[in-house]
Amino acid sequence: MKIPFLDSYRERQAEPTARYTLFQNTDQIFTEQYKNYCARFEYIVDVRGCKVVAISSAIAGEGKTVSTVNLASNLASTGRKKVLLIDLDMRKSDLAKGLRFPSTPGLAELLGGTANLSEVLRYVIAQGLHVIPSGRRVDNPWGLLTGEKFRILLMELRDLYDVILLDTAPMAPVSDALALRDLVDGVILVHRLGYTPHTLFRQAMEDIGEKKLLGVLLNGVEPHSERYYQRYYGKYYVKQAGK
Ligand SMILES: Nc1ncnc2c1ncn2[C@@H]1O[C@H](COP(=O)(O)OP(=O)(O)OP(=O)(O)O)[C@@H](O)[C@H]1O
Ligand SMILES: [Mg+2]
Repeated sequence: MKIPFLDSYRERQAEPTARYTLFQNTDQIFTEQYKNYCARFEYIVDVRGCKVVAISSAIAGEGKTVSTVNLASNLASTGRKKVLLIDLDMRKSDLAKGLRFPSTPGLAELLGGTANLSEVLRYVIAQGLHVIPSGRRVDNPWGLLTGEKFRILLMELRDLYDVILLDTAPMAPVSDALALRDLVDGVILVHRLGYTPHTLFRQAMEDIGEKKLLGVLLNGVEPHSERYYQRYYGKYYVKQAGK
């Protein structure tokens, strides 16, 4: 299985209280890393013709939400793409909390038929980003995410946006991400080095499969330490075009 390396960003030391450092980010290196990540992502979606992309990870806390928010915001602010971000982690509503939006009404209400699209959409005006929060807490989102209504919603949204990013629950404890695999055009796997057991990371890669895995985003490493990736990935490592 050949896996493209997408990008990496380092462990951030500053502002431990700032959970989502989207708009008040003063750390220049961190900001630059996100710009690079965004540029590579845009290249991949253009080349592969992807529109709906899930961001996943093997276990909780690897940096999915923080990297998805920053990716979506960077991509939207280029003005080249109309970007929608949806919070599919329906047990936690992290995205709404981080962006300081009300979490309801959101996706749960939209799929439940108690709210329409215009009622659930939120806007990050400065970046031109559209967001659908997860809505009320759903203990077993599997039913909603595998249902016909969600499939139809994604089909409709495809006509309205250039890129739709899905912030998901981690793969190991819950199975939402696997349910999504067939609905999306591609998956980005976030992997936090020194945090996630390697076996779980490999299992997550195998579960997503070569066809859908767009790339791995390494969190918690110094940028450009290419030799480290090669050693770490071994036979999985593939150098990306433009890297
Ligand atoms: N590179 C980094 N440096 C410092 N802190 C980070 C980094 N990446 C993520 N974090 C922090 O780690 C925590 C977990 O990140 P985040 O919520 O994005 O992970 P997640 O994969 O979405 O977690 P979950 O699976 O629970 O939804 C957050 O407090 C976030 O700010
Ligand atoms: Mg999250």
